Amino acid sequence: MSDLDAFITGLPKAELHLHIEGSLEPEQMFQLAQRNRIQIPFASVEELRAAYSFSRLQDFLDIYYQGADVLRTEEDFHDLALAYFTRAHADGVVHAEIFFDPQTHTHRGLPFGVAANGLLSGMRAAEAKFGLSSKLILCFLRHLDEASAFATLDAAEPWLDRIAGVGLDSSEVGHPPSKFERVFAAAAAHGLKRVAHAGEEGPPEYVTEALDLLHIDRLDHGNRSLEDPNLVTRLARAGMTLTVCPLSNLKLCVVDDVARHPIPAMLAKGLRATINSDDPAYFGGYVADNYRAIAGLVSRDQLVTLARNSFLGSFLPDDVVTRHLEAVDAFAASH
Ligand code: ADE
Ligand code: ZN
Repeated sequence: MSDLDAFITGLPKAELHLHIEGSLEPEQMFQLAQRNRIQIPFASVEELRAAYSFSRLQDFLDIYYQGADVLRTEEDFHDLALAYFTRAHADGVVHAEIFFDPQTHTHRGLPFGVAANGLLSGMRAAEAKFGLSSKLILCFLRHLDEASAFATLDAAEPWLDRIAGVGLDSSEVGHPPSKFERVFAAAAAHGLKRVAHAGEEGPPEYVTEALDLLHIDRLDHGNRSLEDPNLVTRLARAGMTLTVCPLSNLKLCVVDDVARHPIPAMLAKGLRATINSDDPAYFGGYVADNYRAIAGLVSRDQLVTLARNSFLGSFLPDDVVTRHLEAVDAFAASH
């Protein structure tokens, strides 16, 4: 391992943008298909991996929702979560705030609790095994309607004391944040944090809507905010955290070359950017791979800033954030 690799891996970090269904590796997909006696339309792990070639978000989403069909039991969700946490721990992640898409599972007939209980069990196991803390964020699928999102929030009611917040994901263009204004207001009334994917493929106006109508606490992706200087100023002044995902951006053609990734511009403009893996099983790398992908574009101090930002942007209490920042600074000072 090079010095830079060791530095990136050793930096204590939080991951704030991770779809747990997107951490389903082909090997585990085949294993769960066998365990649950399900046929999948691919002959081998290699054939499946070869299908992971996308030219836009929708290409990926089609295969991602299909892959999630092998998840059938609480044990499956537990195993999925623990497999992710094991990899995250190896990458120096000490805290993770993970997304799940309940509608992907309830629409297949699984009760809400199968995914929620399994994931919460995996999260407890990661805390016990690795000391890795985590929070769970329920994402609404934006290609579905408002009524389905409200039904999901209703179904989640018994679990809301163990869910940190709500998010918004899936096909962005044509499904603006305004479609979910009332659901996000209801989530806020429950005391839930709010995050939303915006400005990944959608225009800067969707980011403005997420701020003004959904009252988000954190912005997922946000790349296209850079097209609007006034929006950039607003995000920087508000100290809004952006959960940026370099390898996802490359795989989904949000950027055409990782060497031209806008992370240096984001930092230069004073945006609180963080580095995350999004759907690591599909995009070719976990969080440390994402830091490595942009390491040539930023300074060592900026890598430390990105790790610090991951805690500043987390939903952890202030005293815990302070403790993590001290650990980042101590690591940076001694390496
Ligand atoms: N669901 C999983 N990953 C996503 C992404 N990058 N954008 C939108 N929806 C998603
Ligand atoms: Zn995402």
